[in-house]
This record gives sequence, structure tokens and C-alpha cells, in this order.
Amino acid sequence: MFTSTNPSDTNEVIATVPEATAAEILTVLRNAKNAQKGWAKLPAPTRGRIIANVGRLVESNKEALAKLITKEMGKVYSEALGEVQEVVDTCDFFLGEGRRLYGQTVPSEMQNKNLFTFRMPIGNVFIITAGNFPTAVPSWYIVPALLSGNSVVWKPSEFTPAVANALTAIFHAGGVPKDILMTVIADGGQTFAALESGLKEGVINKVGFTGSTEVGRKIGAKAGEYIQSACLELGGKNPMVVMPDANIDLALDGALFAGFGTAGQRCTSLGTLWIHESIYDNVLAKFVALVENAAVGDPFKDVLFGPMISQKYLDNHLTHLKMVQSHHKILGSTSTGRITAANPRKGFVGDPDKGVFAHPVIVAGITKNDELYSTETFGPLVTVGKFSTLDEAIDLANGHGYGLSSAIYTNDPQNVWRFREGISAGMVSINNSTSGAEAHLPFGGNGLSGNGSRQSGIWVLDQFTRWQSMNWDWSNKLQKAQMDLIEIKHDPNFVLKI
Ligand code: UN1
Repeated sequence: MFTSTNPSDTNEVIATVPEATAAEILTVLRNAKNAQKGWAKLPAPTRGRIIANVGRLVESNKEALAKLITKEMGKVYSEALGEVQEVVDTCDFFLGEGRRLYGQTVPSEMQNKNLFTFRMPIGNVFIITAGNFPTAVPSWYIVPALLSGNSVVWKPSEFTPAVANALTAIFHAGGVPKDILMTVIADGGQTFAALESGLKEGVINKVGFTGSTEVGRKIGAKAGEYIQSACLELGGKNPMVVMPDANIDLALDGALFAGFGTAGQRCTSLGTLWIHESIYDNVLAKFVALVENAAVGDPFKDVLFGPMISQKYLDNHLTHLKMVQSHHKILGSTSTGRITAANPRKGFVGDPDKGVFAHPVIVAGITKNDELYSTETFGPLVTVGKFSTLDEAIDLANGHGYGLSSAIYTNDPQNVWRFREGISAGMVSINNSTSGAEAHLPFGGNGLSGNGSRQSGIWVLDQFTRWQSMNWDWSNKLQKAQMDLIEIKHDPNFVLKI
């Protein structure tokens, strides 16, 4: 049994759910695989109408779902409402795709022959997601996968089973058959064992995973053994570059939200704030003041951030604090680590001893050789460093090998274009925070952040469909491509004489 608790009050049990074994997951995978062909036969516009129903139901249950997210996962309620809106937006985008899902008609090089392309569903999809976005990120996989005619087995985070079951119930209420979307709660070991046998048996045809680079590497390698490429959305160490000509207050608003929103537990959270050396002291001092004065605590109140997702995430944060070195300066709080009555934070909202809350931390003076430079911290910890030229900033922003999200604050178009061209991240924000991507632009990263797969918008369709090309020769003779060339009469030596 898995028990999820409220991270703001760990004595409050939110859900106790059965834990699936690898054998049970495999049975679910087989059942979903068996059901998929029937689902694929349903016309795509009909599947689109089902996605429309789901979108409307998520919308009408928005507050209930958001409350559950805040209770089980701990993000502030306004962010939880935003997350649920992202599910609605995803459904709204894909309900229309049911009436498109376009293929192409393509001219043939021969007469009396026609060429076409069709998008084909892949089969049964195994989706494994993290606890930080327990509805929005899963919807990026589940919605387009279903719309394209695949069945889905979803393994959500064991820290958010109540939210996962609630979202699954909404999908079923909207008309998705129970054997076409099945949710299993399991630990990592059982999930990986089921992944391996499911791939071997051919009952998994596509894997989608959002989580750490370390786990993504294993999942991607396993899928690769079976000639599959997993859709991987992994970690980030997202840079934000502040140029001397930037609107500094705007940049600081962006840094505060990106660094500490969701307690820094977004894959798009700010990693390092890179400030130009000419404004470094001034901008850092302002950032420190903002963080020192920010309200932390009860996520149902007006605070910058609430608790960590669970004790595990807090422990992880504590490990990162050990990476701070003597040349760094710790700023932003009167203390570090867990917030308690004995280790208090000024202005804390609520009772810190009840939950797993962490002090926000700014680690100033980061350099390229530091462990924290290249470590995704996934908590309320922002590293800050300085640079002298834009080229150096780009080099620092790329140097750790992650490439998910990035941002530059500047009012000079030359800087914008040079940064866009030089940055290796999949997503670039200009005068905006690293987090908060819209639900219909390609979402994904490069290098350690992902294998090039993109989610959202039309781009994700390439993850959940395969192109089938068809040629139809109605000439009643064998026409040979590349061999039966139509002769073109021309003069290759022609020169214009004027
Ligand atoms: C994630 O943290 O895995 O861009 C996704 C954002 C959100 C999604 C984050 N729309 O911050």
C-alpha cells in the first residue's frame, strides 16, 4: 500500500492505494494492448469529441482538482489552478486535431500514380510521470496519445496517487473506455521490471517519461534495446542572463517566480542567474531583499511557495546544500535547511513543524568548476554568478550540458538574436521567466535534458503516430521509380547572347 500525505501537514493522510507489482502492471499492459485496435477504429473526430468532453469536465472540476493538487503535492493554490488550466488548454488544442490529424497528398514522379501519407497510431503507450506537475504534464502525453488512437497505461508519481486517480476518473467520465486508459501506482523497481517485460512481449510500443536525467538514461537505454525511442523530458539547469540594458525589476520578478515558484521543483525552474559584472552587486542585493522578504508557508495562503513535495524532495535539497563551498555566499534567508520552530523563517505563514518546508537559498559566487554549477537542484536554491561578455554568458549557460529552458533579459535586439542562436536549450524566453511555457508550443530539451523529443502542440503528434506512406499506381503497368524517367528535352549549353 502507498500512503500519500499532505506535505503541509504530514499527519494528514490524503490517500492509501494498493501498490501494483510488476506482474500486475504487465497484465494491465496486455489488456490495454488488446483494447487498442478497437479504439483506433473509432473515427478520429469522435475521439476528438471525447477529448472535448474531458476538457469541459476538467474545467468544471477545476477548483476541486486544484485543491487536491495543493493538498497532496503542496504547490500554491494559484499555481495549482494554472496547472489544471494547462490540462484544459491541452484538451482544447487536441479536440480540434481530431478533425485534422492531416496526412498529405504528394505528387508522383510518374503519370497515373498517386502518393499519400497517413498518421498511424503506434499502439500501447506506457507513460511514467513525476509528482511536481501531477495533472498538466501527464495530460501532455495522455491527451495526444489517446487522440491519435493509442491506448495508454499511466504510472504517475507515488506521491500523488489521489490526484492521478481523480484525473483518470475524469477521463473515463468523458468517454475514454476504462481499458484504453489505465492507471497503475507502483514503485520504481516494479515499474522498471514491468517496462522491461512489456517491451520484450511487445505490449509496450512507446514509452514516455518525465523525470530525472539519471532515470531517463536507463529508460531510454532499455527502450533502445527494443528499437524504440522513448519520449524523454528530463532535468534542467536553466540559465537566466541579465544584461546591463535590461529592465532590472522585470528580471527580478522573473527570477523570483522561476527560482522559487513550486518551491523550485519545476523542470523549468531557474538554475543559475547570470548577472553582468557591471550591475552584479546592485542586482544581487535587490534579489536578496526580495527573497528575504518573500512569504513562505501555507500554500492555500498568499505565499511565494509552500512545502516540498515530500520528505524525499527535502532530503534531496539538504544534499545539495552540502555542495556549497567556502568561496560561495549563502543569502536570502537567516538560515538554511528545513524550516521549523527551532529553525524559523521570518513571517512564515502557518506551522512549519507540521510540514516539510525549506528555507529559500541563494548561493552567490558560482563558477564553472563548482559542483552546483552542473547539478539540477530541484528545490528552493538558486545559484548566482557573473559574466563580462554575452559570449561568456552563453558559454556559461550551455557549459553544463543541460538544455531545457533559458532566458535573457535585455532591451537590445542584437543581444536577443545572438543569445537565441547561441543557446543550446530547447526553449528560450526573452524578458520572461524560464518557467511558464504555454501549452501549445513545443516543450522539450536537448543534451542531458532530453533526446530531442518535443511535447505539446502539433509537434507531439510525431511522438504518438508513425508516418505510413502509400503509393497507388493505376497505370496498369509496372512503372519503375528512378528508372522510368520522363525525358526532358533541353539545351544544357545555352548562353544568353545580348
Ligand atoms: C515540468 O516542470 O515538468 O513551463 C513542466 C512550465 C510549466 C510546465 C513545467 N508549464 O513551467
